[in-house]
Amino acid sequence: MLLHLLFSLFAFVTFIDSGNAGVTSSFTRGEFPTVDIPLDNEVFAVPKGYNAPQQVHITQGDYDGKAVLISWVTPDKPGTSEVRYGLSEGKYEFTAKGSFTNYTFYTYKSGYIHKCLLNGLQYDTKYYYEIGDGDSARSFWFETPPKVDPDASYKFGIIGDLGQTYDSLSTLQHYMNSGAKTVLFVGDLSYADRYKYHNVGVRWDSWGRFVEPSTAYQTWIWNTGNHEIEYMPYMDEVTMFKSYLYRYPTPYQASKSTSPLWYSIRRASAHIIVLSAYSPFVKYTPQWKWLREEFKNVDRKKTPWLIVLMHVPIYNSNVAHFMEGESLRSVFEAWFVEHKVDVVFAGHVHAYERSYRVSNIRFNISSGDPYPVPDKSAPVYITVGDGGNQEGLAVRFRDPQPDYSAFREASYGHSTLEIQNRTHALYHWNRNDDGKKVKIDSFVLHNLYWGSRRKLNKNRLRSVILNKASTAQQ
Ligand SMILES: *[C@@H]1O[C@H](CO)[C@@H](O)[C@H](O)[C@H]1NC(C)=O
Ligand SMILES: *[C@@H]1O[C@H](CO)[C@@H](O)[C@H](O)[C@H]1NC(C)=O
Ligand SMILES: *[C@@H]1O[C@H](CO)[C@@H](O)[C@H](O)[C@H]1NC(C)=O
Ligand SMILES: [Fe+2]
Repeated sequence: MLLHLLFSLFAFVTFIDSGNAGVTSSFTRGEFPTVDIPLDNEVFAVPKGYNAPQQVHITQGDYDGKAVLISWVTPDKPGTSEVRYGLSEGKYEFTAKGSFTNYTFYTYKSGYIHKCLLNGLQYDTKYYYEIGDGDSARSFWFETPPKVDPDASYKFGIIGDLGQTYDSLSTLQHYMNSGAKTVLFVGDLSYADRYKYHNVGVRWDSWGRFVEPSTAYQTWIWNTGNHEIEYMPYMDEVTMFKSYLYRYPTPYQASKSTSPLWYSIRRASAHIIVLSAYSPFVKYTPQWKWLREEFKNVDRKKTPWLIVLMHVPIYNSNVAHFMEGESLRSVFEAWFVEHKVDVVFAGHVHAYERSYRVSNIRFNISSGDPYPVPDKSAPVYITVGDGGNQEGLAVRFRDPQPDYSAFREASYGHSTLEIQNRTHALYHWNRNDDGKKVKIDSFVLHNLYWGSRRKLNKNRLRSVILNKASTAQQ
């Protein structure tokens, strides 16, 4: 009798899982013209003072969050690459020494691009820092994450395809009011490659100043998109990712990666894997080998949350970039399922979309099911390529909405993922709505590793069913 009851409950859960109809929001809005903000706008203002540091940005500098990598540009002369820092404002008891580099891009000559590693920091601590010389020195602060711990709570923001338009500004300002501590950036930073010749470098510089109000104070975990490739033979610029690699250092060596383009870090209770969609990734390539090893280093007892960032979405139902993720999917999807990745964030498509937990890994060209099916070990795939760049929104979704697509809307915004403990995280997508930030899509993300360890009793089944019926629980 009890067995029978359990069986019917299971059947019911399965039915609800696969029977969820997705939602296509009819809301689309481009509030501002999709043009870049003019260079003389105050958002791009050059800081006062001779050779004052500009374009300040920080990122995690090691594997576990006890180091910060600080980078900035001085326009006129190298000046110093040192960072003075300490635990109280204006009192800098420590000094770290960095280095600088510079590059040319066609006729453009970059400023002096500095980087400096502060390591051996304390967890969960606010540090103040100062860079630059004399009257032109500038000061900022940052907070280190909590110690890597399975129940460390932490709030991440997710931004993609940002650019430097009025919509980009709206996204950035909404994000800065979200209370999130670190940005997981899913690629396509400045859209400087939409310019030609000298202006490519100029728009990298303006973007660096544009995002500084956030990037100087908060870690942004960087990833590349197609707009970072900058393969421009017409002006003899053919080194892939040149501007990005000079400007946005990453802590790739800490995860034994051999390229700054793919790497991983651990932060609070999350293990974050950054993949490069525009670098070789098929079997036997360096990225493929690295990822195979890195999955072995994931310890869900220390970092319950396993998050993957990559630019191209695998489960996208927008007309824009439809199927572009297929090559990546055929190589990596089986690993995502095997290792129970909790969530994959992507960008590229200039709209928002969230999938159900689905996989499509049984088909092998000669046999097997070729369709995506509900899969409790599969990640949720979320596309947030809606930062607001000058290419505009991707407003055309495929009709009908495929079964794998849970929610989709063509407007600008950003997401937050608020990890509460090892089992629960709150997820929100926030639309930019006439200057206001509106929470549209939200759900509770249950951890795939710890969630499945919960005792399967009648009450739990009951609550699963009730939750499924009321909101989109993933
Ligand atoms: C880098 O800066 C040095 C010193 O100002 C200058 O001599 C050199 O030409 C620059 N190199 C590039 C690649 O711009
Ligand atoms: C292909 O799929 C079939 C059916 O699922 C399976 O029996 C076979 O072993 C698979 N072959 C390979 C090479 O994976
Ligand atoms: C995690 O947080 C959720 C929501 O606050 C709570 O219901 C749950 O019991 C917590 N789990 C653990 C293992 O502490
Ligand atoms: Fe893109």
